[in-house]
Amino acid sequence: MTRFVLPGLVDIHVHLRQPGGGHKEDVLSGTTAALAGGMTLVLDMPNTQPPTITPDALERKRRLFEASAVCDYGFFAGYMGGALEPLLAMAPQTVGLKLYLDETFGDMTLDRGRSLEQVFEAWPGPGPIAVHGEAPTVERVLALGQRYEQALHVCHVPHPDVLLAIDRARQAGALVTCEVTPHHLFLSTDDLATLGPFGIMKPALLAPDLVQRFWERLDLVDAIASDHAPHTVAEKEWQRNGIAQPPPGVPGLETTLPLMLRAVDEGRLTQERLVKLLHDNPLRIYGLAPDPSTLVAVELGEAYRLPFGGYHTRCGWSPFVDKWALGQVVEVTLHGQVVWREGRRLAAAGSGREVQRAA
Ligand code: NCD
Ligand code: ZN
Repeated sequence: MTRFVLPGLVDIHVHLRQPGGGHKEDVLSGTTAALAGGMTLVLDMPNTQPPTITPDALERKRRLFEASAVCDYGFFAGYMGGALEPLLAMAPQTVGLKLYLDETFGDMTLDRGRSLEQVFEAWPGPGPIAVHGEAPTVERVLALGQRYEQALHVCHVPHPDVLLAIDRARQAGALVTCEVTPHHLFLSTDDLATLGPFGIMKPALLAPDLVQRFWERLDLVDAIASDHAPHTVAEKEWQRNGIAQPPPGVPGLETTLPLMLRAVDEGRLTQERLVKLLHDNPLRIYGLAPDPSTLVAVELGEAYRLPFGGYHTRCGWSPFVDKWALGQVVEVTLHGQVVWREGRRLAAAGSGREVQRAA
């Protein structure tokens, strides 16, 4: 059995649901799922209840993490419209600003009356502006990032042609980075017949030929991020008037690494590139310091098919059911302490730390 050690991996797009959605996931269950998946640092999105759009809301969320997190974490500031002062006050305590420019789960889409220009002009950093948007929106926003000299991060790239637009913007001098999700790399519209509501997320799954193009353009991608977005089985199966209206989003903290290790085994990328996508670049994008005493030990073994259930995430299911995967996380060391061994959490609730910016 091949055993090897990776640096602690970083998932820059997770929804841990607290406050307000603890029945889907809470800080303890979500950060435990992170360790189970080899992730030692997660960046939490602001579409909680209440949303993370004021210093008070941020402080309330921070207290929940301080009490319960078992891996490291950082927070995004959100902005929906209105006065800019709360946003400016939160900025230095966050890893970046998250803007929802198209519809998704929750109610955080930026007020249409609000000028995006003013937000781009006002954001003081030091983190980038991370955007959720469909392809036409992202292409429009690329120009704004350049005009206001803001570092822009494109979340869950919605279409492989957006990678070409990002590449053109970079050639023209824009500071732009991007992430692609495992569900856009390992699932397609072909899976919708079996997944039903469990395959619904924003941006939506793409046709198999477009998925193939993501793989062909992987050189243009900076990071893989799960967009871990748990909803309960009951919520996903919710029916109204005979029309299923499931909340969009799928969990992913525990499946990214085994799916990607299988892709390495198949020769779709190298292990060095995997570490760039899941460690080096995520830290670089958000200006965060690496920690050489944070490590993940993996045992490879035989390839296996992922199950639907049996995960640590509170929602308890995965959309990657029956997809091929490789490797098990056998031990996780966080800042020199063994926090996970052979499927068991050793870390005490609250032992995770808030991220530090690189010097
Ligand atoms: C996410 C969620 O459920 O919070 N849903 C999704 O479909 N991706 C929100 C998001 O990241 O857009
Ligand atoms: Zn999103």
